[in-house]
Amino acid sequence: MKKILNIVTSVKGENSFSNKLSNTLIEKLLSVYPGSTVNTRDLANNPFPHLEESNFTALYTPEVSRTEEHKDALINSDKAIKELMEADIIVIGVPLYNFGIPSTLKSWIDHIARAGVTFSYADGAPKGLVVDKKVYLAISSGGVYSEGPMKSYDFTEPYLRAALGFIGMKDITVFRIEGTNVPGVKETALPKAVESVSEYAF
Ligand SMILES: Cc1cc2nc3c(=O)[nH]c(=O)nc-3n(C[C@H](O)[C@H](O)[C@H](O)COP(=O)(O)O)c2cc1C
Repeated sequence: MKKILNIVTSVKGENSFSNKLSNTLIEKLLSVYPGSTVNTRDLANNPFPHLEESNFTALYTPEVSRTEEHKDALINSDKAIKELMEADIIVIGVPLYNFGIPSTLKSWIDHIARAGVTFSYADGAPKGLVVDKKVYLAISSGGVYSEGPMKSYDFTEPYLRAALGFIGMKDITVFRIEGTNVPGVKETALPKAVESVSEYAF
């Protein structure tokens, strides 16, 4: 029995390819781990706000000295980190927007990457504190980036591996649905991605 955190970021709702791929993954996980629970954090409809000066001021104020105002400024970060820490498995739907991740996902990462809580330099070297998590990425893109001429433009997977890995989540498996805008490719993009999930040994 696992606790699954489902991070939704596509603005396309039920028509989203990344959401469909995430849902396929979650169905599979529920069959592999019966009785598991799914907590959905819909960043497309309820995004965390971009960081502001008040957030930084609160973050750099030692915990013992934090005022009520500081504590308020950390509410979103506290909430996002609590959900993350409670989860065993994190499924993240990632539509490619302008060669990168949706800004809502970046904002979520800005709230969960927190010195002393999710990573530490206490021993002189960076250490991720979000441990024992399994991450699945469901990346959807209009073009094809895993191979071919656009491969050098694939910033999404390397970035997410770096950012999530930095805070401790290094066990990351990527599933892709590619070419959703490419005639001749888009027709089979979803079935191919679904097949890659069914062939994977969870
Ligand atoms: C704002 C925006 C920017 C996009 N930028 C890119 C891009 O840089 N490269 C690409 O291949 N596709 C791009 N696309 C196409 C999406 O990646 C593609 O439609 C994908 O399937 C979206 O995932 P979704 O169906 O889960 O929303 C963009 C789409 C939108 C809406």
